[in-house]
Amino acid sequence: MSTPVIRFDKVSKSFARTRVLRDVGFDVEPGQAFGLAGVNGAGKTTLIKCMLDFCAVDHGNIELFGVSHREPRSRARLAFLPERFLPPYYLTGRDFLSFMLALQGQAYRADEVGAMLDALDLESDALARPVRAYSKGMTQKLGLAACFLSGRDLFVLDEPMSGLDPKARACVKGLLAGVLQRGATLFFTSHALSDVEEVCDRMVILHQGVPYYAGAPRALCHHYGEESMERAFLRCIEAPLNG
Ligand SMILES: Nc1ncnc2c1ncn2[C@@H]1O[C@H](COP(=O)(O)OP(=O)(O)OP(=O)(O)O)[C@@H](O)[C@H]1O
Ligand SMILES: [Mg+2]
Repeated sequence: MSTPVIRFDKVSKSFARTRVLRDVGFDVEPGQAFGLAGVNGAGKTTLIKCMLDFCAVDHGNIELFGVSHREPRSRARLAFLPERFLPPYYLTGRDFLSFMLALQGQAYRADEVGAMLDALDLESDALARPVRAYSKGMTQKLGLAACFLSGRDLFVLDEPMSGLDPKARACVKGLLAGVLQRGATLFFTSHALSDVEEVCDRMVILHQGVPYYAGAPRALCHHYGEESMERAFLRCIEAPLNG
């Protein structure tokens, strides 16, 4: 068996007396499109922050590509889009992308950047403007452009569709299909269950810091005897654990 790209093993995390993650354990396999769903406050972003070693776990282990998440090299192959992506306001879009590419040891190639902006439906004039003059959706597209230009093997995207119009959402799905086709792995959070169903071959529903469901998105409907993902999701989180 191949080494999982991400392994969560009995991960627990509390903030003060609030237990946010409780013995969370699951694997993300190479090439998988993996969706993490859950209500507001379920612990999705906290799980990602633990994975990236932005905060310490209380118990348990996390591995990326078989390397402990405590080691910086474990993150060398991933691109990350945070939940609230806010590039430094004084940079232009071009500055931001060129700094991000330089950090990754990559050259800024105007043709590649132009093609990426096209693919995300972001007008190329935006490159010369400071990011403080961007709309919310434009800012999100810039962050996504930086991720996709990285050419990395693992994409960790916390609500990548947030703030995007329907055309841009379709664009992002096209780009996600492209990275999956070249063998990269996708781990993303979303409140849009239709996106999870469309993009992912596996999902986890995290509820009150516990995985309530792990499996194929379509199988969720089957499991709860519901037609819609929303109904099945509600049944899942309302059911007693393991019920
Ligand atoms: N730094 C922190 N200090 C204290 N509590 C925190 C901190 N970060 C998160 N929490 C708490 O942890 C819980 C989970 O938050 P988290 O951001 O992981 O949820 P989420 O599933 O990503 O929600 P959303 O869908 O709204 O993004 C919430 O109750 C939140 O208040
Ligand atoms: Mg979140």
